Amino acid sequence: MDKVIRLDVSKTLGFISQENINSNAALAKQCNEALHNGSGKGNDFLGWLKLPSSITDAEFKDIEATAKTLRDKCEVVVVVGIGGSYLGARAVIDALNSSFDWLERDRKNPVIVYAGNNIGEDYIAELIAYLGDKSFGIINISKSGTTTEPALAFRILKRELENQVGKQEAKSRIVAITDAARGALHTLAKKEGYKMFVIPDNVGGRYSVLTPVGLLPIAVAGFNIRQLVAGAVYMEEQTAPNVAFDKNISEIYAVTRNELYKKGKKIEILANFSPKLHFIAEWWKQLYGESEGKEHKGIFNAAVDFTTDLHSMGQWIQEGERSIFETVLSVVEPNNKVVVPADEEDLDGLNFLIDKRVDYVNKMAELGTQLAHVDGGVPNIKVEIPQLTEYYLGQLIYFFEKACGISGYILGVNPFDQPGVEAYKKNMFALLNKPGFEKEHEAIKKRL
Ligand code: PA5
Repeated sequence: MDKVIRLDVSKTLGFISQENINSNAALAKQCNEALHNGSGKGNDFLGWLKLPSSITDAEFKDIEATAKTLRDKCEVVVVVGIGGSYLGARAVIDALNSSFDWLERDRKNPVIVYAGNNIGEDYIAELIAYLGDKSFGIINISKSGTTTEPALAFRILKRELENQVGKQEAKSRIVAITDAARGALHTLAKKEGYKMFVIPDNVGGRYSVLTPVGLLPIAVAGFNIRQLVAGAVYMEEQTAPNVAFDKNISEIYAVTRNELYKKGKKIEILANFSPKLHFIAEWWKQLYGESEGKEHKGIFNAAVDFTTDLHSMGQWIQEGERSIFETVLSVVEPNNKVVVPADEEDLDGLNFLIDKRVDYVNKMAELGTQLAHVDGGVPNIKVEIPQLTEYYLGQLIYFFEKACGISGYILGVNPFDQPGVEAYKKNMFALLNKPGFEKEHEAIKKRL
């Protein structure tokens, strides 16, 4: 396979200079080396760096065998998890699946649905109604094993499953992915005898897609996890510190976005021209937002789906406050081919496009948008994905993860913690009068 993810930062020049970028080469290299020699902040969470190249055949086989059990038994598999415990899997599955997968009748693969990523009562009620007449299973994912959203959803869904098929059969359709030793989910899974996978201690949630957290749901959905990991292995090699800066796309991306940030471009918008990439952007937002948004600094991460959002946020991007830059995910070759048919009457005036591919029109929209936005004062970074396959998505995942670690170090923060996430939890537990939060409960009541 010779095709690779490509990065093009040439359309940022004019806002920053090549000199700006090049003068940070040594710093980027230093930050990349700090990741590899473990001398930087958060160095107890660097397990993700070598995940692709260190996964063993036995680990693949264990995941594949568990996936087969769920695939054989279930029409629907519910992935319960929040943040890093579901976004990576959903990003890959949505990018590879048919957009209408869940409506297909003669299915080869189970439908994958998600729960525990919100506390919407209607959502869970509607999910239960949907599952009512289906054979289903559950993959329950929580590294800490104590996160409220997935714990609540799992308690409800477990009861539904047990009512539907009995306790014994339910056990064979539930898989837990959690910490090796700690947490409520670990205790529960051990007691019930669920099949378990471990999230390594040194891999944080948002960097865990290449562990069973991402790989099991992706395998259940029918995709080739070995190809996904092979793509990540390739990118692990291509972004290593010994690869020269001008060839090291993670280092270049990290430097470019930090230079733009210094020039007042405080918001990075990840744009795609394929709706199948919507959840790649959700995964990316968590990866970068949670890694860098701390100590009152960090780029704000936003995302848009084009051309859809050109008819809404496009106005703001073209003419709003000039505090943004855009990173565009561009898929070179779609997996399907649709051409514009001839129409004798030509009432819609589209005959000038006869026999042209829909993707040709999309690509012209992409190019036109890039030129317009750059003219409007929005620097543009382009990430080219040869095709939506497991292999290239594996490359993309590792490229972004590596760049995020380097970028966080350039910014001077710890890219591997998320202390700010605790604030809402503390208040919620105080409001709910959770045991252990009695004092906080009294204090917060006075503020209401
Ligand atoms: O990146 C992270 O660590 C977090 O976003 C977690 O993924 C998220 O909070 C879910 O945590 P857990 O897997 O412990 O339930």
